Amino acid sequence: MGMILCVCNALREDDVRAAARSGATCPNSAYRSLGRRPKCGTCVPAARDVIAAERAQQI
Ligand code: FES
Repeated sequence: MGMILCVCNALREDDVRAAARSGATCPNSAYRSLGRRPKCGTCVPAARDVIAAERAQQI
């Protein structure tokens, strides 16, 4: 489960977190690594925040 972050692509916040842990540094690269790409763009600021938070926790 988990909150849907991107409605257009049905991506959950957890999916984006996992992509960030796997090396994605921005929404574009995160979505690409999940086989998707931003469409409407509404989710991009939230995705950017999630990725930044996840990267900040990496050591
Ligand atoms: S909600 Fe993510 S591209 Fe539309």
